[in-house]
Amino acid sequence: MTEIRVESSEDYAKVRKLHLIAFPGPGEADLVDRLRADGDAVISLVATIDDLLVGHVMFSRMSAPFRALGLAPVAVLPDWRRNGIAARLIEDGIKQAQKDNWVGIIVLGEPGYYKRFGFSVAKAEKFESPYAGPYLMALALQGNDLPCQSGRIDYAPAFLVLG
Ligand SMILES: CC(C)(COP(=O)(O)OP(=O)(O)OC[C@H]1O[C@@H](n2cnc3c(N)ncnc32)[C@H](O)[C@@H]1OP(=O)(O)O)[C@@H](O)C(=O)NCCC(=O)NCCS
Repeated sequence: MTEIRVESSEDYAKVRKLHLIAFPGPGEADLVDRLRADGDAVISLVATIDDLLVGHVMFSRMSAPFRALGLAPVAVLPDWRRNGIAARLIEDGIKQAQKDNWVGIIVLGEPGYYKRFGFSVAKAEKFESPYAGPYLMALALQGNDLPCQSGRIDYAPAFLVLG
């Protein structure tokens, strides 16, 4: 039975290990640690099955013309993929962000996957961003549209290291 819950400090080492397994290099594991250290991690959720930490998602503060969070990274241990665990992590994070009055979420990823959560390339295409293009998406949390659809959006400084 998979449980989705807020990350605690006791999870930090396991979350780091998860990202080291899930991604080809240490970039995402370092990113998560740096986002926490910088105080830019806003929502951090883990998925557990009994005592095993199988998934993690982080939403971090962005600089944008509205209160925006960036969704990244999200990872699930290889043996537990394709069971909807990432989807549950993302859905719960979106709900939490909405409750906390965040206005929008930005994600850089595969549109085919993220559109199921309501993310749209069209909503992000007028923003100025180093990641502008067909993989940059936005989700409006308070109503159908973002309060503005242009201007500059930047991920937290920790992302600069990731490249
Ligand atoms: C990307 C990642 C987080 C997805 O995790 P996941 O828990 O497998 O995700 P989900 O189960 O929600 O969905 C993944 C796919 O499985 C499908 N799926 C979900 N439940 C399923 C089920 N019960 N049976 C079959 N397929 C299923 C989904 O439809 C989706 O497929 P699609 O995109 O081809 O439509 C995981 O593959 C991962 O950790 N990858 C490495 C890290 C990474 O690249 N992260 C993303 C960038 S930050």
